[in-house]
Amino acid sequence: MIVDILKQNKDSWDKVAHHFNGIDALPSFGPFTQSEEELNLFGHPTNQKVLDIGCGSGHSLLYMAEKGASELWGVDLSETQIEQAKETLKDFAAQLYCAPMEQDIGLPKVYFDTVYSIYAIGWTTDLKSTFELIYSYLKPGGNFIFSWDHPLYVHLKSQDGQIFLDGSYQDEGSITYARFKGEEAPVTIPKRKMNTYINELIKAGFTIECVIESDVSTNFDSIKEEVSDRYYSLYKARRFPTTLIIKAKKMNELTGVHLNNFS
Ligand SMILES: C[S@@+](CC[C@H](N)C(=O)[O-])C[C@H]1O[C@@H](n2cnc3c(N)ncnc32)[C@H](O)[C@@H]1O
Repeated sequence: MIVDILKQNKDSWDKVAHHFNGIDALPSFGPFTQSEEELNLFGHPTNQKVLDIGCGSGHSLLYMAEKGASELWGVDLSETQIEQAKETLKDFAAQLYCAPMEQDIGLPKVYFDTVYSIYAIGWTTDLKSTFELIYSYLKPGGNFIFSWDHPLYVHLKSQDGQIFLDGSYQDEGSITYARFKGEEAPVTIPKRKMNTYINELIKAGFTIECVIESDVSTNFDSIKEEVSDRYYSLYKARRFPTTLIIKAKKMNELTGVHLNNFS
């Protein structure tokens, strides 16, 4: 079943990849959302080894390269995205792998300073394994930062600007869409509650540093919104967060021991 979903999503991502060249990439965390320049979650990636989960067209890795990251690694389910990422990063020695994020493909353990994922983590068919793997890739003291649709967002529909709850936020499961980006490209996307993301991070061993329910980036300050029923719109974003962003840390075990001695 999971294998079928991954195969279906891979084929569809290969088909729609051209719509996503440089879209949903750092410094953006998501639609209308504050950017890395406003949130400064990554600090200074200079000399860091970074791994991008669901690296897409490679533009977030390019941003990391421009900020001085020393090693660029990326994983993505789609062959087409990986080919595009190779093109985007042709001037850098990036290590790019076409694979599902939920699979252990032998990436180095206890190696990365930062692992991040911009609008990709929610695609995983196995959140538990994905977070456990990410935890294993990080050095102690390393950070994991991800952004994804706010978990309630998929349930927000609007009609003539009136926003209402559609379906059940309580029911986790998945939604299959027959079309994606206007193309015949069926995709299945898991639906998870906010506490599932948080609890799975904790179970994998992470310490949560901050949880952000996005606000609108100041880049839109001068733009007058129009009433809109589109899935993403400035109108909706000014009323409800489009994006969930979490920064979590793999604690340095020595620090843990030290603190315990004083408790
Ligand atoms: C919105 S794009 C991410 C864009 C990317 N963050 C960037 O910087 O350009 C979502 C990506 O998730 C990838 N994806 C979907 N399911 C995946 C999975 N199970 N494992 C790895 N990547 C996956 C898709 O192929 C797609 O490239």
